[in-house]
Amino acid sequence: SVVGVTCVPFSGGQPKGGVDDGPVEMMRFGILDQLQGMGYQIELSNSMDKYRSMRPESDPPIGKMKNPRYVSMAARRVAEQVQEHCSNGRMAVTLGGDHSIAMGTLVGSTAVYRDLCVIWVDAHADVNTPSTTDSGNLHGCPLSFVLGLCSPDDHPEDGPFGWIKPCVSKDRLVYIGLRDVDAGEKAILREHGIKAFSMHDVDKHGIGKVVEMALDHVNKDRSLPIHMSFDVDALDPSVAPATGTPVRGGLTFREGHYICEAVAETGCLVALDLVEVNPALGDPDSLRQTVAVGCSLVRCSLGETLL
Ligand code: ARG
Ligand code: MN
Ligand code: MN
Ligand code: MN
Repeated sequence: SVVGVTCVPFSGGQPKGGVDDGPVEMMRFGILDQLQGMGYQIELSNSMDKYRSMRPESDPPIGKMKNPRYVSMAARRVAEQVQEHCSNGRMAVTLGGDHSIAMGTLVGSTAVYRDLCVIWVDAHADVNTPSTTDSGNLHGCPLSFVLGLCSPDDHPEDGPFGWIKPCVSKDRLVYIGLRDVDAGEKAILREHGIKAFSMHDVDKHGIGKVVEMALDHVNKDRSLPIHMSFDVDALDPSVAPATGTPVRGGLTFREGHYICEAVAETGCLVALDLVEVNPALGDPDSLRQTVAVGCSLVRCSLGETLL
């Protein structure tokens, strides 16, 4: 079978440079060869340079949102590439880049798989709206756009994000790994009854039970297509140090891999994002460790097993 890989060297959803080198470092580490070694054919969207040259000359904030036009243009391109992969029956693997690009991956995947469910593995909820965000960084906001939670004032038809229509339903989204959720985001999760398994739940039930409960929530019969969006900062900083917004108390190496293995076992995965690997942060050793773990999460999600 075929894996459609989209590399997104993009950092405009947050202020730290370097996360745009995530994809090239994962390629350099051999992710494509590794997937081929597992028996996959690779279809690579050739886009490495395009994202950098896309930055508009002038992109002043809109309200609190930083780089809104740039983020929108990049995400729109991602959406096209992911949709193209999905409509050709390829497993869409997107290598980021910061998490704002998930606006694009989700618009792309849901255009083809309308009944898709989303597993969001992250320390953060990334569900701020342009009003609730404190930072103005759009990597903290992708889900509010695709869930349709932004107010019309924040998300006007004729604004930069007008192309994003609600495409993910609240009861088909589940989180695993949360531990740094802003007050405004907590209110959103509560108000909309969005299911989330925090690190507290992982501690309480163990990762095996948590993944089972998460799948039961969004995909009871294990029959719906799954899009997993994996932010490498879901892992503990001791496991994945080279990332822009590390938070202590995260998933262990095995817990992170277990999630990927269990999702692969369902046979339902159609799209995977691996984001927020920032090779510019930390010493060469943390960089290597983080890139390696990113690649290994991708392999496990695509069916690599221990035995
Ligand atoms: N909640 C914070 C914010 O809105 C942090 C978001 C971090 N997101 C991420 N994809 N790493 O800025
Ligand atoms: Mn995060
Ligand atoms: Mn915070
Ligand atoms: Mn994230």
